[in-house]
Amino acid sequence: MSFDYDGMGAFYKKSGRSMRRTEENHPVKFGIMKDEYLASLQSDSSETIIMAAVSFKGGVGKSTISNALGSYLEGDAVVLNLDYVQKAEESNACDTVDYIDYIDEISVSELIDELSKRYKFIILDTPGDISSPTVTEILDRVDRFIIPLTTGKRARQATESSLDVLFGPDAMLKGKIRVFFLLNMYKLVSKRDQAVKHFTDLLHNMEFSEEIEIIPKLVGLKYSEAIDRMEEEAQSVGALAASNKGAYGPARKTLDSVCMKIEEFFEL
Ligand SMILES: Nc1ncnc2c1ncn2[C@@H]1O[C@H](COP(=O)(O)OP(=O)(O)O)[C@@H](O)[C@H]1O
Ligand SMILES: [Mg+2]
Repeated sequence: MSFDYDGMGAFYKKSGRSMRRTEENHPVKFGIMKDEYLASLQSDSSETIIMAAVSFKGGVGKSTISNALGSYLEGDAVVLNLDYVQKAEESNACDTVDYIDYIDEISVSELIDELSKRYKFIILDTPGDISSPTVTEILDRVDRFIIPLTTGKRARQATESSLDVLFGPDAMLKGKIRVFFLLNMYKLVSKRDQAVKHFTDLLHNMEFSEEIEIIPKLVGLKYSEAIDRMEEEAQSVGALAASNKGAYGPARKTLDSVCMKIEEFFEL
């Protein structure tokens, strides 16, 4: 199995897309009545790409990278948050739907169908438990995964469990699957390199389902104060206002560089 490690630091300049949000590329207003919103989705779906941020561990960066990627692919993307505990619509800077708001009405799969009419990209932000029915119901529709992991032994064990459930011998998934591993929040280069080594070994020794072909990529994202503060600032000022005022600025720049790698690797 080929393994492409890209030891990117926290700073990487080029940004592929304009970060400005305009009425034109952002016609959807959230907060309006749900039925009205669903009815307003026009059916022009060609092929919507469904991606998922998953891990067996909380606090590794699933929501952060989902929000960042949704913002990077602005206008074309929606984050579908499957975590019941944490609402994302209010704090995300991009179009976001919390499944909890629809849970009594439609299945996740149906909600994805609806969202596919309007969006080219659906980013699933999943809870720490990827074996929950909400997640397993739609997992086979995903062929691009983002798996954030952190340095340290516990993180490695959590990643191992996630990989086994997703791609192990009993996996329900099939076919060619691109997996973007985000080695997140490392502080020292030495720790990062150690984690890369352990992780590479883990991948090489793992038993994968014979029905699956994994194409992996690993990118590092250093711990960044700006990213750490991002959520706090979004909550205090309101996500949209914060993004317009540039409170996300420094964090965005760092996260955009990762999103650019994801875009390239996922062939979006
Ligand atoms: N590279 C990073 N540097 C600093 N803080 C980060 C980074 N990535 C994520 N965080 C912070 O870590 C916390 C957990 O991230 P989150 O995306 O909510 O994790 P998850 O969704 O996996 O539970 C958040 O407060 C977030 O701002
Ligand atoms: Mg989360």
